[in-house]
Amino acid sequence: LAKCFKLSNGYEIPQVGFGTWQTPNGETATQAVKAALQCGYRHIDTAAIYGNEKSVGEGIRKSGVCREDLFVTSKVWNTERGYEKTLAAFDKTLADLGLEYLNLYLIHWPANEKQFENWQEINKDTWRAMETLYLEGKIKSIGVSNFLVHHLEPLLAAAKIEPMINQIEFHPGQMQLDTVEFCKRNQILVEAWSPLGTGRMLNNSTLMAIAEKYQKSVAQLCIRWCLQNEVLPLPKSVTPSRIKENTEVFDFVLSAEDMEIINDMKYCGGSGLNPDEVEF
Ligand code: A2P
Repeated sequence: LAKCFKLSNGYEIPQVGFGTWQTPNGETATQAVKAALQCGYRHIDTAAIYGNEKSVGEGIRKSGVCREDLFVTSKVWNTERGYEKTLAAFDKTLADLGLEYLNLYLIHWPANEKQFENWQEINKDTWRAMETLYLEGKIKSIGVSNFLVHHLEPLLAAAKIEPMINQIEFHPGQMQLDTVEFCKRNQILVEAWSPLGTGRMLNNSTLMAIAEKYQKSVAQLCIRWCLQNEVLPLPKSVTPSRIKENTEVFDFVLSAEDMEIINDMKYCGGSGLNPDEVEF
C-alpha cells in the first residue's frame, strides 16, 4: 500500500490514506488507527474538529510503526483562522497527536464571501501561517481543503509557497470537475474526502454491476476509480475487515469504458456541504 503520489515540492504521499472523520475519540479511534497501520496504511488523515487527535496519536504509538514511515495530516479549524491563531492551533494539534511534526497541514474550509467581507484577507493570513510553519520545517507539506476555484485563485496570487494539496468531497456523481481540473493545471494534488460518499455509494446499482464484473466490492471500486482519476482517496472505516478490504485496490484496473460510465454518473447524493454556503 506504500505506492505514492509526488507533490509539487517533490515530497511523496502514500496513495491511499485512512480517513477518520466521524470516528469517535477514545478506544474506537485508537483501535481503528492501529488496525489500519497494522494492515499496511502509512497515511492517516485527521483534523482538530474531528475531536479524535489524542486517540489517533495513541493508535499511532500502539501500532509500533516508526514515525518516519508515516504520513500524518491534520487541519486548522474555522474558528482558528488568521496568522497567530493558526500558529497556536497547530501547536495544540501537535500536542494532542503527540507528534513533533506533521507531514501535511490543511486549511479546513475557506473563509467565504457569505461569512466575511474580507474573506480573501482572512484566507491569506491563515496561509501565511502555513508558510511560516512549512519554512520552519514543522510541516513537510501544506495545502487547503474545500477550496473552489474562486477561493484558490486569490490565494495562489498572494502565496509565496503554493498549496500542494486540495482535499475536497469527491466520489461518483460528485467529481467537482472545475476544481479538479484547475488543481491539476496548478500542480495541486486533489484528495478525496468521503470517497464512498460517506457510505451512500455502496448500494448504487450502476456501481454494484461494475464491481461484480471485477469481483470487487463497491468500496474497492470507488477507491480504485479515485486513483485512476489521479485523486488520492481517504476512505474511513472503524471495521477491521473493511479497513483491510479498502487496501486491496492494486490488483485490478478499471477499463476506460468503465471509468467513463462512472465519470458520467449524475449526482446521486453527497454531503450537501457547499464551501460557499456553510457557516460553521
Ligand atoms: P464503518 O466505519 O462503520 O466501517 P467515506 O469513506 O466515504 O466517508 O465512507 C465511510 C462509511 O462507509 C462509513 O460508514 C464506513 O462504515 C463505511 N465503509 C467503509 N468501508 C466500507 C466497506 N469496505 N464496505 C462497506 N462499508 C464501508
